[in-house]
Parts: sequence; C-alpha cells; structure tokens
Amino acid sequence: MAKSISKRVPRAPSASKSLNRSLQAARATKQDEFYTQLPDIEKELKHYTKHFEGKTVLCNCDDPKVSNFFRYFSNKFHDLKLKRLITTCYRNADPDLFSQNESGRGLRLIYSGELTPGGRVPGFTKLDKTMLDGDGDFRSPECIALLKEADVVVTNPPFSLFREYVGQLVEHKKKFIIIGNHNAITYREIFTLIRDNRIWLGYTHPVAFVVPDHYEMRGVRSWRDEHGTNWRSLGNACWFTNLDIAKRHEELTLYRSIYEKPYPKFDNYEAIEVSTYKDIPRDCDGVMGVPVTFLEHYNPDQFKIVGLIAGNIKGLAGIPSASGKDGPYIGGKLRYGRILIQRTT
Ligand SMILES: C[S@@+](CC[C@H](N)C(=O)[O-])C[C@H]1O[C@@H](n2cnc3c(N)ncnc32)[C@H](O)[C@@H]1O
Repeated sequence: MAKSISKRVPRAPSASKSLNRSLQAARATKQDEFYTQLPDIEKELKHYTKHFEGKTVLCNCDDPKVSNFFRYFSNKFHDLKLKRLITTCYRNADPDLFSQNESGRGLRLIYSGELTPGGRVPGFTKLDKTMLDGDGDFRSPECIALLKEADVVVTNPPFSLFREYVGQLVEHKKKFIIIGNHNAITYREIFTLIRDNRIWLGYTHPVAFVVPDHYEMRGVRSWRDEHGTNWRSLGNACWFTNLDIAKRHEELTLYRSIYEKPYPKFDNYEAIEVSTYKDIPRDCDGVMGVPVTFLEHYNPDQFKIVGLIAGNIKGLAGIPSASGKDGPYIGGKLRYGRILIQRTT
C-alpha cells in the first residue's frame, strides 16, 4: 500500500544558526533559497511514476535535512521501485553535523531503501552521509561524477544559475524534472531547447516556497505564518522536464475559424497574432504568434514551434522580419512577446 508522507513543513535553516555572515550576504543578494513544499512536489511527480522504476534519482541542490525532494523520494522509495537516491547539499554549514563545519563543504547522502524495524526511513543521523571535498557546487567534478551515476535529476535548482544548470543536464544527456521560472522560457538557451522539443513544461505550478528569515518581505507575495516561517509565492514558478508525459500528447481542441473574427497581422512578420491560446483558429496554415502560456498546451504532433518574437530578442524569430526590427510590432507599436507556431496537422 502506498505510504502517505507526513505534511510537516520544514523550516528554512535559520540564518543566524546555520550560515556565516558572508555566505548569508551572498545568498541574500542572489535570492536562491526557496524551499519547495511537499504538496507541490506530490502534485507534479504523480504524473511521472512510470519513469522511476529501477532508477537512480539525484537531487543535487538539496540539503537532506530540509529538502522535501529528499523526503518525497526516501518515503516513496519502495512504491516507486527506485534503485538509489543521491542527495547533495551545497555548503552545508550546520555546526551540528560532523563537528564544527564552517568550511562551507558540501554533503552527499545516499539512500538505498533501508528501513527501521518499524518500516520507516531511518532518521538523518543513521543515514549514509559523507562530506564532499568541495562545497557541493553542482558544477564541481565530484558532483558531476554523481550526476553521471544518476538516471533522473529532480530538484528546484538555484534560480540565478538556471541556464547553466539546464545546460549541464543537457550536456550530460540526463533526464530531469526541475522547477524554474516561467520567464526562463524566453532565455535564448532555454527557448532553443523548447523549440527543438528537447525540454517542455510539466503539469503544475508550485504555489509557495519557504524562504530564509533574512529575506525581505515583498507585499502580498510574502507572509509569515503562525510558526514564524517566512513564505514567498512566486506566481510564475513552473516545472521543466524532458520526460515524456501524457499531457504532451493531448490534442488542443480548436474552436475558432480564421474567418470568424479579424486576427491582427504583425507589421514585420508574415504571421497573425492570436492573443490567447483559446482563439487559435483551426483553419490557419500559416504562422501564428501566441502567448508564451500556449506552451502549457503544446502538443508537438499538433503544432511546431517556429520561433520567438519578444522585446529586442534577436535571431530567434525563425522567419524573416520584413522591416529588420526584431520585436512583435502591430500598428507601429511593440506588443507582448509571442511564440510563433504553425499547425502540423
Ligand atoms: C531554490 S533553492 C531550492 C532548495 C531545494 N532544492 C528545495 O527545492 O527545497 C536552490 C538551492 O540550491 C543551492 N545552491 C546554490 N548554488 C548552488 C550551486 N552552485 N550548486 C548546488 N546548489 C546550489 C542553494 O543553496 C539552495 O538551497
């Protein structure tokens, strides 16, 4: 029977307790500490269960003491029939662990499914952990060696290093399910991978993340709960993956006809503008500029992605600009960024 995982919300490590001042300052600037919540992980990963059997999963931006990715995979280890779970933590600065560790060294934890006599995952102190030689940077040789052992990488990586993080996974031909920001779709490197059907969006949107105590509060998107835990909702967090998911094969029903309403044409591209995916006409064979949110409904058997026209992004349009200008212009005005698509069926 599938085990249920306790819904305990881990606190972000308290800054005063676990981080020295310079590390804290560096992290505050980059704002990379967003701790993913178990319900958000469960909501997404339930769509991928068939991909885990016999596999080694790597969570390489995860402090196993607080990571819900570690919690999820260790508790579901037998249900998912995993082979191994490897977790590495960046700059483990917890003085309770392995004597006084202020060196900023990383930590590696390997879980192979061992259980207590009561059938539970053993406590943290009983698990197989080793200090890394370096700080646990996912780009370090020892972390790359662990990446090579992995079949599927699942985590929420640092937002500030997202391009590099994805680049490394692609370079090492790894399967992955990772959290990123919707804005990353328009990064040149990420968009190119999406266009070429090498990565795509997952199902859900993580709702809220626990953040360290020292992160500034930002209006309605930040709050402190009754336990004193700080929360931040990002609004545009999403999952990126290169694992095949059923959603990717669902055909979008097209209700509109090109003759039904006037679709504006771009000044500088031979394409019509469709301001919501719901209005994509069923009878247009040409190129259409659609909002980035179309990717939530993208089925590569139904459409091909031709290019991206957004702001001043150059060279990704996929079709020539009649005026030489790059952005999506209509009536002489620069409009919202659009993904250029064309029907294939
Ligand atoms: C967005 S947080 C997510 C943490 C955890 N994966 C989760 O989802 O709860 C990103 C984590 O990556 C860690 N990190 C930052 N730079 C890193 C690096 N170069 N290599 C590995 N991890 C890094 C941060 O310390 C932070 O804990």
